[in-house]
Amino acid sequence: MSKKKKFPRESFVSMTELVLPNDTNTLNNLMGGRLMHWMDIVSAISAQKHSNRIVVTASVDNISFKHPIQLGNVVTLKAKVTRAFNSSMEVRIDVEAEDVPSSKRTESNSAYFTFVAVDQSGRPIDVPEIEPETEEEKSLYDGALRRRQLRLILANRMNPQDAKELKSIFDIKETQN
Ligand SMILES: CC(C)(COP(=O)(O)OP(=O)(O)OC[C@H]1O[C@@H](n2cnc3c(N)ncnc32)[C@H](O)[C@@H]1OP(=O)(O)O)[C@@H](O)C(=O)NCCC(=O)NCCS
Repeated sequence: MSKKKKFPRESFVSMTELVLPNDTNTLNNLMGGRLMHWMDIVSAISAQKHSNRIVVTASVDNISFKHPIQLGNVVTLKAKVTRAFNSSMEVRIDVEAEDVPSSKRTESNSAYFTFVAVDQSGRPIDVPEIEPETEEEKSLYDGALRRRQLRLILANRMNPQDAKELKSIFDIKETQN
């Protein structure tokens, strides 16, 4: 039986936060840990919307902080599932900060989180497939396979020799045995 398909837009979530004093470091900038907490929440909701299941965070790809986000800024986090595999889903999160008095908006960072849908006992359970619609969604969908292979290798869950998509990028030569 073929799996149910859903569109990325069905998992779209936008979350807005105001940076308050308790969210900041001694330089009055948003703490990275607080931002990652918000990113975890917005992407978990997105994965839940796609799967209609309980989800757990399986992994977080590298996150770089390009610009500091200041006290009083309004932070908008947007999340959408890029691709679903068996029980796991990759979610992309884009973060933007706005200084409302000047209307100045800054793209802060983006990241990929992986969630696994689980049943009531915490066992992984299959999720619907993703059917990308826009050119951007198709590009993110294609790249998701390579990113999955890289994170599974780093988690020691995949043999690099089996990562066909990654090999095609890095042109890793087959070892002669
Ligand atoms: C994530 C978890 C459910 C996976 O359970 P498991 O018994 O290892 O299950 P499996 O080996 O069958 O893997 C299930 C899926 O998780 C994916 N997965 C497991 N570890 C992963 C990792 N580090 N990165 C990306 N995906 C991962 C697998 O690729 C698989 O995906 P697929 O079904 O789409 O092919 C389990 O490790 C877990 O519960 N971890 C704790 C989650 C948690 O508490 N998060 C919050 C941290 S405070």
